[in-house]
Amino acid sequence: MTIWPAVRSSLCFLILVGAFLCQPQHLSGQASANPLTEQQVRDKASALLKQMTPDEKIAQLSQLPGLPAPEFRENVSQPMEEILKKYGAGSVLWVSDPKEIDRLQHVAVEQSRLHIPVLFGLDVIHGYHTIFPAPIAMASSWDTKMVEGAQAVAAQEARAAGIQWTFAPMVDIARDARWGRMVEGAGEDPFLGAAMARAQVLGFQGKELSAPDRVLACVKHFAGYGAADGGRDYDSSYIPEEEMWNIYLPPFKAALDAGVGSVMSAYMDLNDVPASGNPWLLDEVLRKSWGFQGFVVSDAFAVRSLTTHGYARDNQDAAHKAFTAGLNMDMASGVYLKYLPIELQQGHISMQQIDNAVLPILETKFRMGLFEHPYTDESRLEQTLNDPTHRQMARAAVQRSTVLLRNEGRLLPLDKNGKTGKAIHSIAVIGPLGDAQDDLLSMWGAMTKPGPTVSVVQGIRDKVGSDVSVAYAHGPNLTRQFPSPFEGIPIVPMKEQPAQTPQEAQQSIQDAVALARRSDVAVVVLGEIDLMSAEYASRSSLRLSNGQQELLEAVAGTGKPVVLVLINGRPLDITWAAEHVPAILEAWYPGSEGGHGIADLLFGDANPSGHLPVSWPRSAGQLPLYYNHTLTQNPETAPNFKSRYWDLPSTPLYPFGYGLSYTTFSFDNLKVTPTARVGGKIVGETSVGGTNKGTNKETIAVSADVTNTGGRAGDTVVQLYIHQRAGSASRPVRQLKGFERLTLEPGAKRTVHFTLAKDELQFWSPIEKKWTVEPAQFDVWVGEDSTAKLHGEFRLTE
Ligand code: BGC
Repeated sequence: MTIWPAVRSSLCFLILVGAFLCQPQHLSGQASANPLTEQQVRDKASALLKQMTPDEKIAQLSQLPGLPAPEFRENVSQPMEEILKKYGAGSVLWVSDPKEIDRLQHVAVEQSRLHIPVLFGLDVIHGYHTIFPAPIAMASSWDTKMVEGAQAVAAQEARAAGIQWTFAPMVDIARDARWGRMVEGAGEDPFLGAAMARAQVLGFQGKELSAPDRVLACVKHFAGYGAADGGRDYDSSYIPEEEMWNIYLPPFKAALDAGVGSVMSAYMDLNDVPASGNPWLLDEVLRKSWGFQGFVVSDAFAVRSLTTHGYARDNQDAAHKAFTAGLNMDMASGVYLKYLPIELQQGHISMQQIDNAVLPILETKFRMGLFEHPYTDESRLEQTLNDPTHRQMARAAVQRSTVLLRNEGRLLPLDKNGKTGKAIHSIAVIGPLGDAQDDLLSMWGAMTKPGPTVSVVQGIRDKVGSDVSVAYAHGPNLTRQFPSPFEGIPIVPMKEQPAQTPQEAQQSIQDAVALARRSDVAVVVLGEIDLMSAEYASRSSLRLSNGQQELLEAVAGTGKPVVLVLINGRPLDITWAAEHVPAILEAWYPGSEGGHGIADLLFGDANPSGHLPVSWPRSAGQLPLYYNHTLTQNPETAPNFKSRYWDLPSTPLYPFGYGLSYTTFSFDNLKVTPTARVGGKIVGETSVGGTNKGTNKETIAVSADVTNTGGRAGDTVVQLYIHQRAGSASRPVRQLKGFERLTLEPGAKRTVHFTLAKDELQFWSPIEKKWTVEPAQFDVWVGEDSTAKLHGEFRLTE
């Protein structure tokens, strides 16, 4: 880093004042009882900024990697502590040990000139110690309150350990299951994605960021990462503007509306401009259109990668392009630290630009109360991490997230005590994920400080006690053809299962079959180890890999009843199972209490209620696949429409929104008012004109009756879809525009009410180049998934 002697000496008076002003007042871990007002935040940040040297400012724009490996230090030769002492730093990431965090914070606060605390960031994606189900699972619950509560627990545990900033929520829309990172988000739909984004931001940040049990959230990856060509992680995305506005951006906007304090820019090229140096994304959309006041951090090394992308000539150019595009903080690459001083000296960027970039970072630190309370309070740690309510919540989350895909002949729930006359005396738990622990946490869950994890076989044993014998056979081991580059990095504890010879794999299948023959029922647990999904984990096929399909067919061939439990981060090719295996439960990566939650569902102590947040493909050949596509020139009712491939139906195996229960629900009495055309008769008209700038307050009310028609209490997710029949652009065949999860006792009926207003009816028109609500005829459907039949209509007039 360049030192600026002249500027420094002229600031010597201010330095003394600043040292006094910035000395921490109370060195405890408790956050402010009286949070600062926004005016105080702004005043304090501006006053501090005036005291800072250029080098100190640029250090605030830098996030230092906490990993010692040389490849992480290409542009940063000085040891972290030296940088902290000399200049401070905006943030440090990848340090998860509370003691080490505290030690580094003491260095920054006590030994740097201006005593500015560091913001410690980590990927606390679905739990820190108590790991909740992975985000795709939590989205399957369609339960925003539960999701908010789960992330509040994650925030509480992380903050007690010294983490003040989480790189979540991840809100990338994913329509291609080959892409490994589908597991980290809420699936394919912008409306559900927006609801999950809001819930997570509220869970992490709460209402008051300075509270001692909240963390700063960071919505990521801005934007379009999920559309990577061919589903290959990091590949370019090509997304037309209308698709950005209508599909990919709404969850980000929802996170902003919920008050998210930071945004992470994505890695990939968006329409040939890397997202981390993309002025359209970072300035036009984020700041000019949405008025974002927080700060943007790059994804890891993404500033340096602008050179690798072939977008920047060299690393100085990379620093220039990212900085002038609107990126405040460089994650880990050290390029800002090394080259922004040179950029400034050479006059390519101005001090005013630097100040504008630093201010939101300082403001965030003041808003969070970090100056007053920079340190962790270790006395709270153990108690917080071991709070028994956290595990209870995680178990309930598994119950609410797991999706029952098939239940032929009502095989489930299993009867452990003979109440139905079909009592089970012996259970075979089979499959390479049946005894898995870390693999139930998924990649990010395994990387924080996870507590103990309950495997599926353990969960079943705990449930049935000693009356029922439970034996386990592993079956073939799970390995990747190409290993993950994450394996072996110090903070990444994930491992593949050991490689086997073909003979060993065969033997493992025979052992499993022999066990199934000796048992009353087989619970077969298949899917993907954690290294097979998330980052660096795209795949070309969705098949049950490593002989798992063969294992499943062999076990089913014994004639014993089989329940398939899937542990995975994306839909897999289960077309064979969907015809031959009577019961299928999709548990995703269920987290610390996975085994208990799954056992609760298997034995009917909880009733499955998850619904798919993605369309489930029959095979990878259908990808990308999403329910909210537009229509074609062939009527959907034409006999050949459903097989646009000659070798595969066009429909998904299971539609978006789908999920079964041990009870059943019926939907009727749809009412649309006003302007409803129910049974072919127009009963009213209203006017919903205007654009997003309009003042239209009129709404369409939709209601439907939902009845529990089965014999036990259960939850369903009532979903509302609309379709605009004609307009300035083709509109999707269906779009989710409302949902409500509700519990009904057997026989109980409830009327569910939805409102369609401007937000639900508008779209970004590629012809109008703006948001518009158009006069048109609309269809509306209410039901349990995206193929809902209960139908009504309404018309919007000029
Ligand atoms: C991932 C981000 C993550 C960051 C920090 C990157 O490789 O893409 O999602 O937040 O690392 O760990």
